[in-house]
Amino acid sequence: MDSGKHFVPADVPTILVILGVTGDLTAKKIAPALFNLFEKKELPQKFELVGVSRREWNDDDLKAHLRAILGAKVPDARRGSVDAFLGLATYAKLSFNNFHDYAALGEKLKKIDDAWGVCTNKLFYLSVPPQFYEEIFDHLKKSGLAEGCGEDGEGWTRVIVEKPFGSDEKSAKALDLKLGKLFKEEQIYRIDHYLAKEAFQNILAFRFFNNLFEDQWGSGLIEKIYIRELENVGVEDRGAFYDPVGALRDVGQNHLLQMLALTTMDEPRNLSAGAIRANRAAILETLVPLSEADVKRSTFRAQYEGYRNIKGVASNSETETYFRMKAFLLHPRWEGVTIVMEAGKRLAPRGGNEVTDVEVVFRHPEPCLCAELRVKHGEGAPDHYKNSLVFRQDPVEGITIRFWSKKAGHAMELEERTFEFDLRKGGKKSQYTEEYEKLLMDCISGDQALFVSSEEIAAMWKFVDPIENGWQKGIVPLARYAPDSPAISIEAAVADEATVRRASALLPKEIGVFGLGKMGANVARQLKDKGWRVVAANRSPEPVSEIAKEEIEAAFSTEELAEKLKSPRVIWLMITAGKGIDEFLFGKEGIVSHLQKGDIVIDAGNSFFEDTVRRAKLLKKKGIYFMDVGFSGGPAGARNGGSLMIGGEKIMFERLEPLFADLSVRNGYAHFGDAGSGHFVKMVHNGIEYGMMQSLAEGFALMKKSPFKLDLATIARVYQHGSVIESRLTGWLEKAFREYGQDLKKASGTVAATGEGEWTVKTGRKWKMKLPAIEDAYKFRVRSKKKPSYMGKILSALRNQFGGHKM
Ligand code: BG6
Repeated sequence: MDSGKHFVPADVPTILVILGVTGDLTAKKIAPALFNLFEKKELPQKFELVGVSRREWNDDDLKAHLRAILGAKVPDARRGSVDAFLGLATYAKLSFNNFHDYAALGEKLKKIDDAWGVCTNKLFYLSVPPQFYEEIFDHLKKSGLAEGCGEDGEGWTRVIVEKPFGSDEKSAKALDLKLGKLFKEEQIYRIDHYLAKEAFQNILAFRFFNNLFEDQWGSGLIEKIYIRELENVGVEDRGAFYDPVGALRDVGQNHLLQMLALTTMDEPRNLSAGAIRANRAAILETLVPLSEADVKRSTFRAQYEGYRNIKGVASNSETETYFRMKAFLLHPRWEGVTIVMEAGKRLAPRGGNEVTDVEVVFRHPEPCLCAELRVKHGEGAPDHYKNSLVFRQDPVEGITIRFWSKKAGHAMELEERTFEFDLRKGGKKSQYTEEYEKLLMDCISGDQALFVSSEEIAAMWKFVDPIENGWQKGIVPLARYAPDSPAISIEAAVADEATVRRASALLPKEIGVFGLGKMGANVARQLKDKGWRVVAANRSPEPVSEIAKEEIEAAFSTEELAEKLKSPRVIWLMITAGKGIDEFLFGKEGIVSHLQKGDIVIDAGNSFFEDTVRRAKLLKKKGIYFMDVGFSGGPAGARNGGSLMIGGEKIMFERLEPLFADLSVRNGYAHFGDAGSGHFVKMVHNGIEYGMMQSLAEGFALMKKSPFKLDLATIARVYQHGSVIESRLTGWLEKAFREYGQDLKKASGTVAATGEGEWTVKTGRKWKMKLPAIEDAYKFRVRSKKKPSYMGKILSALRNQFGGHKM
C-alpha cells in the first residue's frame, strides 16, 4: 500500500550511494531495478549512482560490472539505454573502517553538488553484511556525510538498510540507538521486500476496500491462519550469510511476520505511512512470546541433507533451513485463533511449484449439518465443511476462495470448488526487480509505508528471541530432510497434530452423566450430538428411561454406570450441592467403590469450593481424579454451549480439554488452578450475579414508580442496544416484561437464595473483606421470604428466564 505519493520531483537532484556495490544485492536487485526506472524515465532528471566498495576499481570497472549484470538480468535491454544508464554511474573506493575514505567520498559528493549548483538529496544504501553496519554508521557520523546540506528540508539524506536488522531484540535496539544519533526515524528505510510484493499489498486492498469479510474479520469468523513460504531454491552460494542466520531469522522474523501483520492488523485511520506502520506494529506487539514448553511443544526445525557441504557453512552446522511453528495474538479480535507459520528451502520437487501464501481458514458453520451428511454418505464424507481464503504470492499471484457446492444430481452431495482470481493475466512478475523499483522510488519520494519501523522490528524480535534461545539450548531436535521434496512439511504437520491429539487420544469420547435435571440432561444431549457415547444415570429411574429414548444409554445404578464405561472412566456429576455429592461419591451405593485408579469424576454442580478441596483430597488417596467445573449459562447453555470455570489438576484439564470445548461457547472455558478453584470462581460469579440482578430490580422498580408512565420493556430494549449496561440480564428482563407484562403478576415476590450468594458473603466475611453490594443483595433475598415485593418479582422473573426456576 502506498500513500499515493509516487510523485518524484524531476528537478530534485539525487545521488544514490551504494555501499557494497560489488555484492549480490546490487547484481540481483538494485541494478536491474534502477535500470528499469531509468528506462521508464522515473528517476529524477539529475541522478547519479555512486558505487562504493573495498576493491581497487575505477569508474570503468564499475561500468563493466554493471554492464555484465544487466546483460544477464535484462538480456533484451537496448545497448543504447544501457550506455546512457552507465553514464550515471561512478565509483569510489572505501574501506569501511577508514575515516579518510569517507572524507574522500564526502569530497566527491560535494563536487557533484557544485557541478550541479545545488544541494542534492543523498541516499546511502547499505548493501553490506549486517556486521559492518555499526562501523559504517560511526564513520558516516564522524565524516559529516549523514548531514544534509540544504535548508528548509531541501537536500535530505536518507539511509536504506537491509534485513536482518540485528540478530535479536537487544542488538536491533543497539543498532537503532546508533542510527538514531545519525538519522531521524523519517530518514531510515528498513527494507522488507515482502511489503512491496503485489500479492501482499493486495491483502490490505482486499480487506479495507471491500466489505466482503472485513466486518467479521477475526476469531468469530476465522479459525486458523497459515502463513507459508515453501521455497524451491536452496542456500546455494549464500552459505556465509545464511549459516549464522538460519531460516527463522532469514525469513520468519521479517517476511512471515509482516504477512501476518497485514492479515491481522486493524484498519488504519488513513493511508499514510504513519498510520499503516503504527497498526502493523500494534498487532505485532500482541504476539504472545512462546514459553520454553511452547517452543518444545509447538516448534519444529529441520535441515536439508547436503546443506553442510555448502561453501561458508560449518561442517557440523545446526542451522535450520526449515521451520514450522504456531503463534497467537493477545488481541480481543484474534483470541483463540491459531497461526501456523512455516518456511524453508528446497521444499518443492525439482521443477515443481513453490508456495508462498497466506491461507485464512474460516470456522465451519455451527451448528453444522456435516454429521447428517456423514450418516447419509458414510465415513467418506468430511467431518467439517471448511472454507478458506488464500492470498497467493507463489506460484501465481492472486486470490483463491475455497467453498463447498452441491454436486449435480439427485442427492445432497458436496464437493469443494474454488473462486480464483489471478493478479495479472499472462505476464509473469519480474522477481525482485519490481519490488525494488517500488522500494527505491518510495524511498526517493519519502514514503515509508512499505518500510519497517523500529517498533515493528522490536516486536518481531521479541517473538523470535525465545524461540531462537530454546533452539540454541537444543530443546528442539534438528530433523533432516531430503531436499527437493515437500515431505518434511507434511512430517512437521503430522508431528504437530500428534501433539494436539495426544491429549485427546487418551480420552475416548465416552462419558457417564449422573444427574438428569435440566442441566445434566442437556449436557448429556449436547455431548451425544457432538459424537460422544453417553451413559446416563440418575437417583430416580424415570428421567433415565426418558432420556434413553434419545440414543443415550441408560444405567440404573452407580454400579451399572461404572460397569458400562471403560477405564479410565470420565463421570460428569450434575446434582444439587451438599450432602448428595458425598452420598454419591462415598455413600453406601457410592460410585467410588466401583471406580478404579485413574478414573475421573467431574463435579459440575454448584458445590462450595471448600467442600470440593476436601473431596479432591479424599479421592486422590484412592488415585481418582476430582475436577470441579462451575457451569454458567443455564439449561440453554448446557444444551448449546455455556461458560465453564474449571479447577483441578492441570494435566487432567489438558486431557479433558476436548470435553470442555464441546460443552462451552467459543473462548468460554479455562482452567483456573487446583481443585476448588473452578467452584470458587463460579461462586463469585453468582455473587456478582446477585448484585447485578439486584441493581436491575431496584432501578426498574424505581422507574415503575415514576410519574412518567414508563414502558419498562421498551426501556430494557433500549438499554440493551448500545448502552453501557447492555447485558444478558437486561435482555432477559425485557423478555420477561414482554411475556408477563410489566407488573409481573405471575411472578412471586419472594426469591430463593440457594448456596452461592450466601457462600460469597460468608467467604468475604471470613477473609475480612467488605462486599456490601453482594451482601445486601443476598440479605434482600432472605428478607423477601417474609416481605415479598415488586423488586422480588423482578428477581424471580430473571431467575426464571435464565435458569428455568419457578417464578
Ligand atoms: C530473502 C531471503 O529475504 O527472501 C532469501 O534472504 C529468500 O533466503 C528470499 O529466498 C525469498 O524472497 P522471494 O521474493 O523470492 O519470495
